[in-house]
Amino acid sequence: MAKEKGVKELEDLPGIGPTTAEKLKQSGYDSIEKIATSSPHELAELTGMSVDNAKKAVDAAKQATTVDYSTANQVYEKRKALGRILTGSKGLDEMLGGGVEANAITEAYGKFASGKTQLGFQLSINVQRPVESGGLGGKVLFIDTEGTFRPDRIEQDAKASGLDPKEILDNILVVRATSTDQQILAIERADKLIKESNIKLIVVDSLMSLFRSEFLGRGALGERQQKLNSHIHKLQKLADTYDLAVYITNQVMDNPAILFGDPTTPVGGNIVAHAATTRLYLRKSKEDKRIVRLVDSPNMPEGEAVIKITPDGIRD
Ligand code: GTP
Ligand code: MG
Repeated sequence: MAKEKGVKELEDLPGIGPTTAEKLKQSGYDSIEKIATSSPHELAELTGMSVDNAKKAVDAAKQATTVDYSTANQVYEKRKALGRILTGSKGLDEMLGGGVEANAITEAYGKFASGKTQLGFQLSINVQRPVESGGLGGKVLFIDTEGTFRPDRIEQDAKASGLDPKEILDNILVVRATSTDQQILAIERADKLIKESNIKLIVVDSLMSLFRSEFLGRGALGERQQKLNSHIHKLQKLADTYDLAVYITNQVMDNPAILFGDPTTPVGGNIVAHAATTRLYLRKSKEDKRIVRLVDSPNMPEGEAVIKITPDGIRD
């Protein structure tokens, strides 16, 4: 996006002075584009300005932004340059077209002990490797909603891979969220941290557990899905804005509507289904083996890969 001359900073918009601009920036509204795509009500609530004035600011921001159209070839070049994080298993990497993609949301769903969290740990290590070695050369924001973050496990994996475990753990910023509000805020407020700390992977483990326990019953479903929708939308926006990878884990339920075949279905409904760029279904096999099924991908065929959860991490 290019800007009209004159409007460069938030303060250049009508009705926005230094104090308001600061408030906006702290909440992640730190560019003219962000203001242009915000609702006046949202801004009014955040800053205490009137809805009318907020509308003027949004309109001015809209006028100051233009859309750059790209040819399909340009998009193609950009896609080829997208970063990927290796998973530790060659088979899984191949199935994914070269690893877990940046600028996208990858979801892993499956029953307990299927390896969703372990894969999150492995990605948290591998993303820190330089691009040439299958990482994105960046840090991790790890949202732990189930209290299952295990630094000792990561330490063990890092050591086994010949990496400095202290450095690896220093580069993983953990938020232990115990309510959906904390989970949502950790993502809403992440812009500054992502920029300052060069975060290249966000893990949400798991996406739905708090939403499920807080919003019980049919009556709460509408509100739950609405909150969930904006939460996921924000994750997608961060992935796009900062060229980072988002890895979310998800719980499952048995869908009684599926009479034949495997009734295991990820929770969260259409909102999660549509938001996840790539969906992986993990299930237990013999001993430390796990079968990973590629259920949904924009450009790779469906398939299965067998991975192993070893003491050293995810392997073939
Ligand atoms: P829930 O969060 O309960 O839904 O499960 P999950 O899918 O996140 O499972 P997780 O990734 O925690 O995988 C648990 C499995 O990993 C266990 O069955 C263990 O067998 C295996 N595991 C965990 N730690 C180790 C370890 O240090 N060594 C080995 N070999 N396996 C481990
Ligand atoms: Mg887990």
